[in-house]
Amino acid sequence: MSESMKGLKRSHRCTEVSSSDIGSKVTVMGWVQKRRNLGSLIFVDLRDRSGILQLVFNEDDIGSEGFEKAGTLRSEFVIAVEGEVAKRSGAVNEALKTGDIEIIAKSLRILSEAETPPFPIEEDSQTKDDIRLRYRYLDLRRPDIQHNMFMKSRVMNLVRSFLVDEGFIEIETPMLCKSTPEGARDYLVPSRVHPGSFYALPQSPQIFKQLLMCSGYDRYMQIARCFRDEDLRADRQPEFTQIDMELSFVDEDDVIDVNERLLQYIFKEALDIDVKTPFARMPWQEAMDRFGSDKPDLRFGMELHDITDVVKGCGFGVFTGAIENGGTVRGITVPGQGGMSRKKIDKLVEEAKGCGAKGLAWLGTNETGEVKSSFAKFMTEDEIAAITKAMGAQTGDLMLFAADRNKIVWEVLGDLRISLAKELGLIDDNRYEFLWVTDFPLLEWSDEEERFKAMHHPFTMPVEEDWENIDKDPGSVRARAYDIVLNGTELGGGSIRIHQDDIQTKMFEVLGFTPEEANAQFGFLLDAFKYGVPPHAGLAYGLDRLIMHMVHADSIRDCIAFPKVKDASDPMSKAPDKVDDKQLAELGISVTASPEA
Ligand code: AMO
Ligand code: AMP
Repeated sequence: MSESMKGLKRSHRCTEVSSSDIGSKVTVMGWVQKRRNLGSLIFVDLRDRSGILQLVFNEDDIGSEGFEKAGTLRSEFVIAVEGEVAKRSGAVNEALKTGDIEIIAKSLRILSEAETPPFPIEEDSQTKDDIRLRYRYLDLRRPDIQHNMFMKSRVMNLVRSFLVDEGFIEIETPMLCKSTPEGARDYLVPSRVHPGSFYALPQSPQIFKQLLMCSGYDRYMQIARCFRDEDLRADRQPEFTQIDMELSFVDEDDVIDVNERLLQYIFKEALDIDVKTPFARMPWQEAMDRFGSDKPDLRFGMELHDITDVVKGCGFGVFTGAIENGGTVRGITVPGQGGMSRKKIDKLVEEAKGCGAKGLAWLGTNETGEVKSSFAKFMTEDEIAAITKAMGAQTGDLMLFAADRNKIVWEVLGDLRISLAKELGLIDDNRYEFLWVTDFPLLEWSDEEERFKAMHHPFTMPVEEDWENIDKDPGSVRARAYDIVLNGTELGGGSIRIHQDDIQTKMFEVLGFTPEEANAQFGFLLDAFKYGVPPHAGLAYGLDRLIMHMVHADSIRDCIAFPKVKDASDPMSKAPDKVDDKQLAELGISVTASPEA
């Protein structure tokens, strides 16, 4: 039975009541966290988004009917209680903000009864993710998820207020856009008015924000929803939010400066953490060579070493073969792990193979100096000594080597570096190491499509002195692009944009577009550039990823109210779903795939 709240007005949220209110009357409303019956006394923990408050029911104060009603309360009932604030009769609960007080209930209304929830509403839930997401509205009641939602809201407000003070204007860009072939797969939306034609949901507001620069808005910002039909990971969702910006008449240093101050401001205001500026900057090549990653985690060492020159003439065919095929041999030194068991090493070898390696060579010494290795038998003592020296290894260390094309060597060692650091506890969770990675390659060869693709997007400005090599050696041309990296995650990325016709036309040519194709896809942008375009640049952050770091969440799902699971579906609402034949007919669509396929 549900009672109405007519005549009652909530006076406080649970934790807004404090010992300074002792003796006064309050009206509180919320969910029953738990009830304990102690004969003549009933204790109820009342929960709302602010926290927990203890209510005490006794017959003298609430009467026999009210006391009986209090005895029927169960978890997640929604109640309203009028009562008097009192000093806590039992021991003070230091864990609660309201641990020194309680409310002596004078009246009780049950506003809504509740079935037993499928999992307890508590912090650090051990409940499986699929159950949590099926009942997301219950999961969202849990304090840790609520904390993340509050953090996100706070950060969005901070971003807006900071950027508006810096002269940015927030402008909305369309959700129903034209599909463009570069980037990830688009989510398509069929048009009823134009049967057979489709909109695409935006992967980012990129083109529109560049158009806004052409229109003279000078500094644009938007907290923008983006959609990408790509495989999900712990830090990737098909639907996510960017903090997006674009600026006119600026260079790299201007963009970097405003963004360093923005991050500094957010961390100070939301977490009271002092972030030191300027952040470190590192060219892409150095990041790959030292960390095997374009988003290096700088909180620990274990850097990569290139030993190609050292092992060039050695007797180990795996190494020399890779070098002869144009590859390199590189390794990481794992401190103090020279005595690692074969079983564990074999697991590392399997992990390397999972990254595309053909194998993983290893060399270790235990504390007594005894050498164990997968390849020492093919080498002289001098060669082993030279490798050990080049790797900066000490007695007791383990060295792991990959020999292959650079791309694979970097990926294998970069991944092992991270997973070993996690396993060995080398990562300090309370450190924030921001880094700008700069000078990315402009283009990336796609084996699949047998053509160069833009590493960032086709509007990224090449480094001027490299541009003359665009025909001779397209892979060597660097881009004026920058990523902001935090603790091994790419938080955001951006670039100086091309604003010259001739460079943009050439860029499309290199990417394999005919002038007609370029015109069909991006004609409106190229046209806009004909009418006076300022030099411009910008950047976008993944907001959900930023929040992940700020709240130490393991999954991006914990930072999005209603996220999707791995197959991009929503277990709660069951989206995506079939639609009516009538709807399809209106859109002129006939479905050929069987729903399960
Ligand atoms: P980019 O594609 O690098 O750049 O995206 C910017 C940032 O958005 C976040 N992000 C994601 N977050 C969650 N789930 C996803 N699927 C996902 N994809 C990307 C990342 C990433 O760094 N228009 C350009 C920016 C620019 O040049 O100004 C762009 O979208 O944190
Ligand atoms: P094999 O000659 O295949 O028996 O390999 C000898 C050792 O070299 C094993 O420990 C393999 O894991 C390792 N290995 C094989 N291929 C590579 C490679 N490309 N890079 C590094 N180590 C490798």
